[in-house]
Amino acid sequence: MNSIDDTPRFVDRRGTGSSKWDGMEERFGVSDAIPLWVADGDFSAPTAVQEAIRKRAEHPVYGYTEYGEGFYEAIRSWYARRFGWEIEREWIVPEHGVVLSLNLAIEAYTEPGDGVIVQTPIYPPFLSAVKRHKRKLLENRLVVEENGCVIDFDDLEAKAAEAKLLLLCSPHNPSTRLWSEGELLRIAEIAERHDLIVVSDEIHADIVYRGERYIPFADLPGMAGRTLVLHAPSKTFHIAGLNTSFAVIPDDSLRRRYRLAHERAGLDNGNVFGIVALEAAYTGGEAWLEKMLEIYESNIAYVREFMAERTPAIHPLPVEATYLIWLDCREMGLGDEELKKFFYHEAKLLLNPGVSFGEAGSGFMRLNAATSGELLKEAMGRLETAYRKWKEGQ
Ligand SMILES: Cc1ncc(COP(=O)(O)O)c(C=O)c1O
Repeated sequence: MNSIDDTPRFVDRRGTGSSKWDGMEERFGVSDAIPLWVADGDFSAPTAVQEAIRKRAEHPVYGYTEYGEGFYEAIRSWYARRFGWEIEREWIVPEHGVVLSLNLAIEAYTEPGDGVIVQTPIYPPFLSAVKRHKRKLLENRLVVEENGCVIDFDDLEAKAAEAKLLLLCSPHNPSTRLWSEGELLRIAEIAERHDLIVVSDEIHADIVYRGERYIPFADLPGMAGRTLVLHAPSKTFHIAGLNTSFAVIPDDSLRRRYRLAHERAGLDNGNVFGIVALEAAYTGGEAWLEKMLEIYESNIAYVREFMAERTPAIHPLPVEATYLIWLDCREMGLGDEELKKFFYHEAKLLLNPGVSFGEAGSGFMRLNAATSGELLKEAMGRLETAYRKWKEGQ
């Protein structure tokens, strides 16, 4: 199916309604910046995905659609092959998005006022999901070390004593930490001791490097009975616009409660193109993914080396997973508004302000490296010019 040349190609997305490119002006009031923000890649999806969508599109009726056995089998086989986790068919609950699942899980397992732990800085919808449902936000702040962010386990233990739910992000966005087995086991012990339900957003699980492998949280000893794993092919294969994800919930009672919340929200059938895309990606997208990872690795190395040499007051933390780079800009001594202005208006680069990931992200910016090497080169050129000007003004 995808035997010819399945190399991801950088594609100009302007004029397609792309949030990342075409949504810049309305969302941020800037039109001439290079968009390196939302976690969305600028590369063609695997050939298998494109062909499957084209084939389905040829049939002229796009009515309500069932998920079908191929959908479940593709997920099961992907997890077994890639992560060595054998999932049962009935554990899989198809969904329209991981953020939706986070919200439904909060509704399903907690009441207003209940404590929910998030490890900040964190992907902003974690924070809004807790706040909008009027649950108590318990922040377990990560500690920044030279080699990346680490968990403050004493604080996690203390917060767990007043929590019902832990919203884990594994791998973690924005720190890019791929939690080690040792760290995950410590989290698991705490979850067990305090009887927490763990909702583990593992959407970035496929984007890891150098033979490293992420461990599904529910696959840790004793965790299947208290964990929901949330995943999707969206980040991995650049198909986020198809709004198709899934939850893996091994425990019957937790699954029933989740399904109830799903039904209460009036959700039912899936996205006709999302279903075929997921199946095609998980069955025919593996070779493409390996090439994609090589491109990210080279982009990330380029940005990190460039900054170390030319913009030394900006410190990119090591990238363990994802195509994102968490930049520690605190040495520049700018307030969060000034830092944003520096990137948006001086450098003309649109990155996510660290503070949007919670106060713990103050002084940081998040850069998305899932774009062409050429564009990154232009971006670094702009950054260096702005940086020099800033340095002269010191
Ligand atoms: C950690 C994390 N979870 C969820 C999402 C979004 O998932 P979805 O589009 O399926 O709601 C993102 C997107 O950036 C993310 O980084």
